[in-house]
Amino acid sequence: MITLALSKGRIFEETLPLLAAAGVEVTEDPDRSRKLILATTHPEVRVVLVRASDVPTYVQYGGADLGVTGLDVLLEHGNQGLYQPLDLRIAACRLSVAVRADYDYASAVKQGSRIKVATKYVGLAREFFAGKGVHVDLIKLYGSMELAPLTGLADAIVDLVSTGNTLKANDLVEVERIMDISARLVVNQAALKIKQAPIRRLIDAFAAVTAERFAAAS
Ligand code: ATP
Ligand code: PRP
Repeated sequence: MITLALSKGRIFEETLPLLAAAGVEVTEDPDRSRKLILATTHPEVRVVLVRASDVPTYVQYGGADLGVTGLDVLLEHGNQGLYQPLDLRIAACRLSVAVRADYDYASAVKQGSRIKVATKYVGLAREFFAGKGVHVDLIKLYGSMELAPLTGLADAIVDLVSTGNTLKANDLVEVERIMDISARLVVNQAALKIKQAPIRRLIDAFAAVTAERFAAAS
């Protein structure tokens, strides 16, 4: 049995077509059921639903053989023990710094002020600002980062941006792009050795459809 860890929402939805290309269809709808283990049309493949931030943990410790996770989550987790064969080019967005429109970020950075930064990505934010030599006080949040500069909790946030609509709706502006993000396939290294043939087949099918899509888009 091959166990694939996915998170509900965009990762699940955007992975379904890749699975279909590999001849695997999930036979249960996670929005209509409370089940966390979903069967597929392939007797040897099942899907487990975990929190997005838990996907690397499940794969690292063998609770799942492979998983699909955002690069943001993967880097924040640390990719020890995880084989990363593929950029799936789904769930594409970017990790950025944003501030209130009336906050002079450039001056604060130039003057060497201490900046309060709220984020879910404390590790990535620390590394980014340390690389720039900017002094920051980091405040860990688990969601609704956009609220932090509006309430005075922080001067800036580090969060994911895609269309920019969430920032705009909250009168925030993107001042720096830290990195481009997309979802990655991660594989447990021991599972790859023990279940090499079926895991390789899945990786190859995902790679083929990802390459096809990329060729069609460019
Ligand atoms: P958790 O449930 O653990 O809090 P989450 O709510 O961040 O996780 P999702 O919103 O489903 O989970 O995001 C999963 C992944 O999708 C993120 O790690 C990121 O890589 C990507 N992502 C997040 N927001 C966007 C977006 N607006 N557009 C495209 N991709 C995104
Ligand atoms: C993500 C992210 C931003 C938003 C950016 O939130 O945390 O808030 O998307 O996307 P945009 O630039 O297209 O507006 P998401 O929709 O995943 O909500 P959640 O983090 O609360 O699950």
